[in-house]
Amino acid sequence: MNEQSSWIWDTPNAHFSRHLPDEPIGYFSPNALRSKVSAFQAGFDGLLSYAVKANPDPDVLRCLTQNGVSIFDVASPAEIEMVRAIHPEAKLHYHNPVRSAQEIAQAKLHGIASWSVDALSELDKLGDLPKGSEIAVRIKLPVAGGLYNFGEKFGAEPAQAVPLLKAVAMRGLAPAITFHPGTQCTAPSAWESYIKAAAQIAKAAEVRLLSLNVGGGFPADRAAQPVDLLGIFNRIKAAKERYFCDQNPVLVCEPGRGLVADAFALVLRVKNIRPDGALVLNDGIYGALAEWRDMPPAHSRHIAVFNSKGDERLGKPAPRIIFGPTCDSLDRLCEPLALPSDIKEEDFVSIQGTGAYSAVLTSRFNGYGCSKQIYCRALTSAPRHL
Ligand SMILES: Cc1ncc(COP(=O)(O)O)c(C=O)c1O
Repeated sequence: MNEQSSWIWDTPNAHFSRHLPDEPIGYFSPNALRSKVSAFQAGFDGLLSYAVKANPDPDVLRCLTQNGVSIFDVASPAEIEMVRAIHPEAKLHYHNPVRSAQEIAQAKLHGIASWSVDALSELDKLGDLPKGSEIAVRIKLPVAGGLYNFGEKFGAEPAQAVPLLKAVAMRGLAPAITFHPGTQCTAPSAWESYIKAAAQIAKAAEVRLLSLNVGGGFPADRAAQPVDLLGIFNRIKAAKERYFCDQNPVLVCEPGRGLVADAFALVLRVKNIRPDGALVLNDGIYGALAEWRDMPPAHSRHIAVFNSKGDERLGKPAPRIIFGPTCDSLDRLCEPLALPSDIKEEDFVSIQGTGAYSAVLTSRFNGYGCSKQIYCRALTSAPRHL
């Protein structure tokens, strides 16, 4: 637990209306994280692995571990060490399919339960592995659903995946298939298409899969409609039963965003209202809103504005251009935000669902960037404007 997190506040509002912080603050609710973990554990018909890249904060890793998460998807030796420091016995899935020889050697020292590959050259590069080590062949399909295309960088086409899977089995390793439908994927049909293709690939390779890893991609609550995680879990289960018939690979999911995003709120402050009505906030795309360069902002139902006393501004929402605090004119959100028309300088802007790919992508450009994390029991209290 870091220095700032030794205090637990009821809500972000209780904290910021008392301390009037001038710097951006990430508010973390372990209760919210616990309930997300429970939703995955109760609803997903398989194993839960956490994609560390989304938020490798030690307090997050500790909270996950304390709530029964014992499998971690790691992308690098540095992430392996972060996990090992918190959970020495954790199962590690090294599912970044491209690694250097040095990275492989380092990872082997820590014991890797599952490696993903999307090319024969990467399988060869792994060298000798303990018999029965799991190798998950990463596949890609032209399937829409996520906010951007994860297949651009990684994944084997089905025709290449078949010989790769055969090669895994012939080397005495345990074959698995993995995929990622794209982050913030709200279309259950994307998982269904992948599961169908995975079954066809396994059949063509004449291989029985040890496991089927359905990736991350599970959406956080950032859109106009609430997310239906259970609906996605049920479609995944039904698709596995339908397409794998008598085979019964263990299902694994490895969410990042879907698990941690909704356990955090980011609270920013209005530094200035420009003469044309644009707002300058104390954080932006070089900080905790880095992702908002590549995806639309959260829907306004996840954003609220408060005055310094902690009272919510309820003016009619109006679109505002948003700049971050740096001297760089690119430091601007790609879309305007609808914010209450009575917003004032020094008000606080609270954005729910900012626990994934935010703190970890924050730079210190121009000396800015959110580095403070405060613990809260809950993330909201006041009624929200719609
Ligand atoms: C292999 C792998 N698994 C899981 C994830 C987590 O994805 P998400 O945060 O969309 O759940 C990622 C994200 O890049 C990934 O590359």
